[in-house]
Amino acid sequence: ALAEQAKKVAAEFDFPKENVNKAVKEFLREMSEGLEKDGTELSQIPTYVTAVPNGTEKGLYMAVDLGGTNFRVCSIQLHGNTTFSLTQSKVAIPRELMVAKTSKELFSFLAKQIEAFLKTHHEEHYFHHIRRRNTGGQTKEEEIFNLGFTFSFPVQQVGINKGMLMRWTKGFDIPDAIGKDVCALLQVEIDELNLPVRVAALVNDTVGTLMARSYTSPGKTGTLLGSIFGTGTNGAYVEKLDKITKLVNKKDAGNYDNSTGEMVVNTEWGSFDNSLRTLPNTAYDIELDEKSVNPGIQMFEKRISGMFLGEILRLALVKLLHDPKVSLFKDENSATNDISSTTTIAVDSPIWKQWGIDTSLLSICAGDDSHGLRITRQTLDKDYGISAASAEDAEAVKIIAGAVGKRAARLAAVAIAAVVLQSGRLDTANPATTEQKENISPPRGNVQSEGRGEVREEDVIDIGVDGSLVEFYPDFEEHIRAALREVEQIGEQGEKRVRIGIAKDGSGVGAALIALVAGKVASPQQ
Ligand code: BG6
Ligand code: GLC
Repeated sequence: ALAEQAKKVAAEFDFPKENVNKAVKEFLREMSEGLEKDGTELSQIPTYVTAVPNGTEKGLYMAVDLGGTNFRVCSIQLHGNTTFSLTQSKVAIPRELMVAKTSKELFSFLAKQIEAFLKTHHEEHYFHHIRRRNTGGQTKEEEIFNLGFTFSFPVQQVGINKGMLMRWTKGFDIPDAIGKDVCALLQVEIDELNLPVRVAALVNDTVGTLMARSYTSPGKTGTLLGSIFGTGTNGAYVEKLDKITKLVNKKDAGNYDNSTGEMVVNTEWGSFDNSLRTLPNTAYDIELDEKSVNPGIQMFEKRISGMFLGEILRLALVKLLHDPKVSLFKDENSATNDISSTTTIAVDSPIWKQWGIDTSLLSICAGDDSHGLRITRQTLDKDYGISAASAEDAEAVKIIAGAVGKRAARLAAVAIAAVVLQSGRLDTANPATTEQKENISPPRGNVQSEGRGEVREEDVIDIGVDGSLVEFYPDFEEHIRAALREVEQIGEQGEKRVRIGIAKDGSGVGAALIALVAGKVASPQQ
């Protein structure tokens, strides 16, 4: 009976074919609207990046990456043959800085991490600069690191290294930063520490992912989309410049190289359909949103990404726990329990606290094929203070967790489908079947396939992905693919042409590549 009750809850997360198609249509509508004007649900932010790399780029660059959970500092040596070497340090962003009183606290922390990185990994370079300074000299132009700043939040970009923060997402909340140029905030702190570093490019993590994927896996047509399915979710894609009318029709247009006729656009799809025209909306979604720091926004993200899926599951489980007719985690189930103790939920179990369940529990459930779901039960015990749960209990959790994860992947497919359709790349060829090209960048984690094996290279539509969810949630890609096949204008033929590949360490490399281009623009003598 418990399984039946769980299946009923799971059914609330169904997102059938018809709804997928409606949402794709709405996504396309919002994409066009966002290209025409500001202030729309899909922000469609022009990035001033007008070309994707082709793997021949060379040089030593720095990048910093303020993502969702971690702050990374890296230096990247691009070898010019589609390969690179990366040196990096990573720290978890202290929780108190995410909600600091002033943005200075956050940005000075970032600058200090850059300083520590230089001292450790580029000691000579750093001390050479300091000696010159101390003897009244000037560091030479070519001795200054061009730094790509991956800042994974919505920014109204006005130039390659200038952009104002529009709003915080993913639990960050530092009001005074809103409306300020985040590059300037970082540069001020870098200069206070006298570091030989110039913030040369401002990059969203999705744009970095797109660049990195293009560099390592250039293909014949270049990567179309860089997307993140991690703490948050978002995508950046290559758009025809003349479709970005809100930019090209501006009086001061022209602050970018328009020779390629294209520009990367950061969709900020986390806020797709905030008004819920087509998104599913269960009681759990409603409660999660109401109790979040940003009710009413990032509604798509709140149904897809790692920061939220655990909480959706938690709310669904708590509802069952409060239902006297449901036997979840109650002793009636213990009949089949091979542990001869009674099921208890600790009073301080994280299951009772907002954000108490981590999305990794969904991945664990989805990947658990052990006898009697032993692994899930151990996790419930160890991480959630739920001891002696029965196999039926674990099965109920797995059913609901699976439904939440599957809905997330099907929603992810909506965004991918819309970008593929918007690009028109499906119209370009008549797919014929030949050998698949050997993969240049091997898949990592659970991203299984880089293609469907039988599509001509020129017909491949390449998509780079990164983030903990796509990396660790089993079958995320398979669920995406199933939904892509259900999209009327894509179907089986179209889905086969979509190649999804992980862009390992994407943003850092991508930011370096953009800093390279920006550096060339900034110092014409090179
Ligand atoms: C990292 C990128 O690999 O993935 C970051 O370097 C990005 O820029 C991050 O934000 C997304 O994944 P998660 O799971 O950390 O949000
Ligand atoms: C959030 C941010 C977006 C970022 C995404 C993935 O949606 O608003 O800028 O790309 O998370 O990290």
